[in-house]
Amino acid sequence: MKVLVVYESMFGNTRRVAEAVARAMATTFEVRLEHADAVAPEDVAGVDLLVMGAPTHAWGLPRAGTRRAASSKVVTSGDLVLESGADTKSGVRELLASLHGGELRGWVAAFDTRRRGPGWLTGRASTSIGSALTRLGPRELVAPESFLVDQRDHLIAGEVERAEAWGAMLRHELEHHGATAA
Ligand SMILES: Cc1cc2nc3c(=O)[nH]c(=O)nc-3n(C[C@H](O)[C@H](O)[C@H](O)COP(=O)(O)O)c2cc1C
Repeated sequence: MKVLVVYESMFGNTRRVAEAVARAMATTFEVRLEHADAVAPEDVAGVDLLVMGAPTHAWGLPRAGTRRAASSKVVTSGDLVLESGADTKSGVRELLASLHGGELRGWVAAFDTRRRGPGWLTGRASTSIGSALTRLGPRELVAPESFLVDQRDHLIAGEVERAEAWGAMLRHELEHHGATAA
């Protein structure tokens, strides 16, 4: 079965989560890991599971303005490193806007990175991704999941391992339900 893991990331945290999820699924399935900027609508056609993740920005999905704000934060923080081209690349919001639904035949699953705290307070990009994808037709294989960063925008200890476990759970669910979401 074919799995496509798509992400965007400013400081590398969401990329590291996406890599862990892809790693856990690659033991069984054919897995592609791509930045959203490199994905066209035709790339999601024929995929049995589309996994999509983004950092939570301003209680939702990143947009051009919040990406610029993140890039400025790198200069003042001292210890954050900007992912290559992250402030000018397009991301998950733009990819979602380009999909029409006909391309999506399989299951979908959404994740985000965000600060610690209740989701209603921090916002969760994953719920925006999940509802945008399900509005197009496909069903979510599992509920949207969040992976947490600290106040300095570094993943808290254990989150990469939890992302691997989440990927393994997706693998089991896909094996159990099969490729057809309909
Ligand atoms: C401009 C900006 C806005 C943010 N807004 C939120 C927010 O509303 N809620 C939240 O939990 N975290 C917020 N954060 C923290 C990000 O979620 C965190 O930087 C991100 O998860 C790191 O992932 P990345 O390294 O992949 O970019 C914000 C960060 C930036 C730079």
